[in-house]
Amino acid sequence: MAVIFPSWTNKLPHAIGVGLPVVALAAIAGVWYFFSPEFTDVGYRPKQPIAYSHKVHAGDLGLDCRFCHNTIERGFYAAVPPAETCMLCHTTVRKERPTLTPLRLAFKQDKPIKWVRVHMLPDYAFFNHRVHLAAGVGCISCHGRVDTMDVVEQKKSLSMGFCLDCHRNPTPNLRPVSQITNMRWDAKIANYDPKTDPHRKRTVEPPLHCSGCHR
Ligand code: HEC
Ligand code: HEC
Ligand code: HEC
Ligand code: HEC
Ligand code: HEC
Repeated sequence: MAVIFPSWTNKLPHAIGVGLPVVALAAIAGVWYFFSPEFTDVGYRPKQPIAYSHKVHAGDLGLDCRFCHNTIERGFYAAVPPAETCMLCHTTVRKERPTLTPLRLAFKQDKPIKWVRVHMLPDYAFFNHRVHLAAGVGCISCHGRVDTMDVVEQKKSLSMGFCLDCHRNPTPNLRPVSQITNMRWDAKIANYDPKTDPHRKRTVEPPLHCSGCHR
């Protein structure tokens, strides 16, 4: 009888079964190793095209984060504002300043300002601002005291361990939804307990299973 499948092929399904996940994991680990340092490092603080300061605008002037990051509660991305938003004030405020020349140019030529991305997860991890904000997790939990930063810098690792630490025990990180952008809010001073918050209709259940964040 002609041998169509030599006997070694009997082991093939097994080899594929074991081999594929190993290859997949190696690929993920490779992507993680080669692409992450620049983006996942705590302290990453790129130079921006305009010396815009959160300390001045969100701290001293007290502008709410959502004045500029106005899509954050609706979409996936926390849009960084276009020049028009800045020009609401800077057509009159400090308009002669050379520090604002790139802003005026971008506005006049209708070109986007080339802000450098600070925080960035790898593509294989899923993240959505909206869900977190609706559950009452404040910006400060993941970005630190942005209102004191002249230049935005990454304060938390945004690693899988960082996400899971909170997902396992979210309660200490919850606040009233009305306070999510308030950088001075303190659970102890406010004597806040999510369980007695009348605005909370349900208990939050952040995903712990792999496919919750790797879809
Ligand atoms: C007047 C407009 C304005 C306000 C108000 C503002 N931001 Fe920003 N934000 C910007 C601009 C412009 C950038 C991009 C340049 C930069 O990174 O500094 C930015 C960038 C950021 C980044 C980094 C984004 C990235 O690339 O990863 C974070 C985080 C952030 N803002 C959080 C906040 C928080 C939290 C508040 C409220 C306390 C706030 N912002 C208030 C305009 C604003
Ligand atoms: C609500 C009004 C308002 C908005 C909106 C606003 N600014 Fe300002 N900005 C100010 C004021 C007021 C100052 C001066 C603050 C001070 O010096 O104490 C200032 C100062 C600055 C300075 C420093 C100018 C200098 O040399 O003294 C820069 C740069 C700047 N803003 C950029 C931006 C950018 C970029 C945006 C949009 C992302 C923006 N601003 C949005 C009000 C605003
Ligand atoms: C639970 C953690 C968490 C909270 C809370 C959070 N952020 Fe973020 N933020 C992130 C992560 C993670 C990224 C990177 C997202 C990516 O790469 O897809 C990010 C990115 C950003 C960016 C860059 C643009 C973007 O969407 O990727 C801005 C701006 C920003 N956040 C502002 C804010 C502001 C303002 C708040 C509060 C209203 C806030 N964030 C609350 C984790 C958080
Ligand atoms: C400080 C606490 C905290 C941190 C840090 C945090 N999360 Fe969450 N996460 C939550 C809470 C609370 C929910 C909402 C659960 C609910 O509404 O039942 C949530 C929900 C989610 C969901 C479910 C959203 C959906 O659409 O189903 C995903 C995915 C998620 N988080 C991913 C991440 C990732 C990725 C990170 C790290 C970059 C992260 N989270 C960091 C608290 C946190
Ligand atoms: C709460 C969200 C979340 C959950 C749940 C989660 N991951 Fe992740 N995972 C992440 C994030 C975010 C990263 C990217 C970390 C970075 O940029 O350093 C990551 C990275 C990884 C990596 C790349 C290597 C590494 O450690 O950074 C692997 C492999 C991985 N996850 C596997 C898993 C497996 C298997 C599970 C289920 C047991 C799981 N993840 C559950 C958020 C999550």
